Amino acid sequence: MFAIAALCKQLQPEAVVVSGDVTQRARPQQFYAARLFLQSLQCPYLVVAGNHDIPLFNLPQRWTSPFANFEQVFGLLEPRLQTDHFDIIGINSIRRRFHTQGHFSHEQIARIVAQLQHSDHQKRRILVSHQPFVVTHQQHHRDVPRRMPKAVQQWAAYGADVFLHGHCHVPAVFDLNQVLHLGVGRPVLDVQAGTGLSVRVRKGYPNSVNVIHPDLSVERWDYHDQQRHFRQVATLWPYSSET
Ligand SMILES: [Fe+2]
Repeated sequence: MFAIAALCKQLQPEAVVVSGDVTQRARPQQFYAARLFLQSLQCPYLVVAGNHDIPLFNLPQRWTSPFANFEQVFGLLEPRLQTDHFDIIGINSIRRRFHTQGHFSHEQIARIVAQLQHSDHQKRRILVSHQPFVVTHQQHHRDVPRRMPKAVQQWAAYGADVFLHGHCHVPAVFDLNQVLHLGVGRPVLDVQAGTGLSVRVRKGYPNSVNVIHPDLSVERWDYHDQQRHFRQVATLWPYSSET
């Protein structure tokens, strides 16, 4: 926690984005602790829900009001944040059934298109949802959101520059224009976050954050156990070798 706070103080980001799985079991005290921490960073933040942010064992609540605890603490499920260089739009991809796999509704796809049409074209347009659009590990093969191809095609056509995701615990960047053959004539980045702040990390990937600049370069910063701070270890976009 202190290392992330120190990194924010060092980099002074325009915004901090949390791409879901804020909690492990969607308990109120876990959400309140997360909000307290984000508020301590003293910069604007945007949070979307992950599959861990709806109750798993409390079936009545899961069925009747799965997002109640999230909304009580963070408010909107689909927040929007405008900064000097970025227009950041949150999209809720979590459903009470089949919550591990993401879903987009037709209404969501159309609504985000409308938001993109009226957004400030001088700003980089970033869409945030939990599950990734490109997977490299077989175990996440079924977690790509339902209707993702249609959603990405339309959102990219209307100006989306970057998609942010969590879920897989592996920091990575893919160019969706190339991988999905979008045909928009520019890179459309799928930026996937590692584990920001948890002991639940994937082997070989310590706690990390991605730093995105207005020119859309993306840096990976890893937590270093001995030095107890984050340091830049790679440029994820444009593709380059590790530093
Ligand atoms: Fe997840």
